[in-house]
Amino acid sequence: MDLAQVRQLFESLKGKIQTPRDLEKLRQTFLGKKGYVTQLFKELRNATPEKRRELGKLINALREEIDEFIKLKGEELKRKELEEKLKAERLDITLPGDTVLPIGSKHPLSAVIEEITEIFKQMGFSVETGPEVEKEEYNFDMLNIPKYHPARDMQDTFYVNEKGYLLRTHTSPVQVRTLLKREPPVQIIAPGRVYRRDDDPTHSPMFFQVEGLVVNESVSFANMVFVLKVFLRKFFEKDVSVRFRPSYFPFTEPSAEVDIGCVICSGKGCRVCKGTGWLEVLGAGMVHPNVLSACGIDAEKFRGFAFGLGVDRFAMLKYRIDNIKLFYENDIRFLKQFVSL
Ligand code: PHE
Repeated sequence: MDLAQVRQLFESLKGKIQTPRDLEKLRQTFLGKKGYVTQLFKELRNATPEKRRELGKLINALREEIDEFIKLKGEELKRKELEEKLKAERLDITLPGDTVLPIGSKHPLSAVIEEITEIFKQMGFSVETGPEVEKEEYNFDMLNIPKYHPARDMQDTFYVNEKGYLLRTHTSPVQVRTLLKREPPVQIIAPGRVYRRDDDPTHSPMFFQVEGLVVNESVSFANMVFVLKVFLRKFFEKDVSVRFRPSYFPFTEPSAEVDIGCVICSGKGCRVCKGTGWLEVLGAGMVHPNVLSACGIDAEKFRGFAFGLGVDRFAMLKYRIDNIKLFYENDIRFLKQFVSL
């Protein structure tokens, strides 16, 4: 290629440079070791001295022109790059702050536990708690459920490696703990987490119970019926019918299961009450004398009643939720529906 052609090629490529890479390629094409301009200089050797001087000047001029172009274009590209970067990272520090902080809400289970607690407090109960990793002795033995007693199968237990410990299957061990540390009269409730090997739309391996225990010298089954009726009607905010069915728990005698008229269909029969018109909501009974004795309390002198309820079930009935898992997945779309609690 002669000088004119090289210049023409340069002129035609000039306008196409977009990036620093393009520019570097251009530099190599003309000024690199095998570049066209370098080539022209090499070819000068074959020219006559006069021509050499004349041509040399012209080639030099072209080289300087290309050099200058590369310098200016390089600066321009750098400037452009910086401008774009600044534009992309633009941060308007004069904007007012985001004042609308999203406000959380109480978890429906927390709200229901608080509500239950409040109702019982108004009736003179105080609140006790116990550990979730519990002694087998308190969860079973002292509640009149000796080893190998078939009643242990009623609750599928998670055992903890350490011998003699388990995840409590109910809040009833708090009865034992309370009676071991306090003289009657006792009038407590004990809300908390319990664990069972159970998992379906109405059972979760971890769920919540509220235990109730009253021990004094004169308490009767009739007192228990009254307390539970008052509680159920306050909680469901209507005059629900309540019925006591004979049942069995090793730690109460007599024992009862407590049903309320279905709050979904008002007793007409629906899917939730399986057409019976009744919903089982509580286990209850008079504290078994063996439990009192095991805790060092004179079973001749003192009597008691106890009850246990499933918080999840109460919450599901009150808010018409048909899958217990919704309480534990904590999907924000579910939780948002309880902002007023
Ligand atoms: N602990 C029983 C259960 O989990 C409920 C219960 C508590 C029954 C107190 C009677 C008295 O099924």
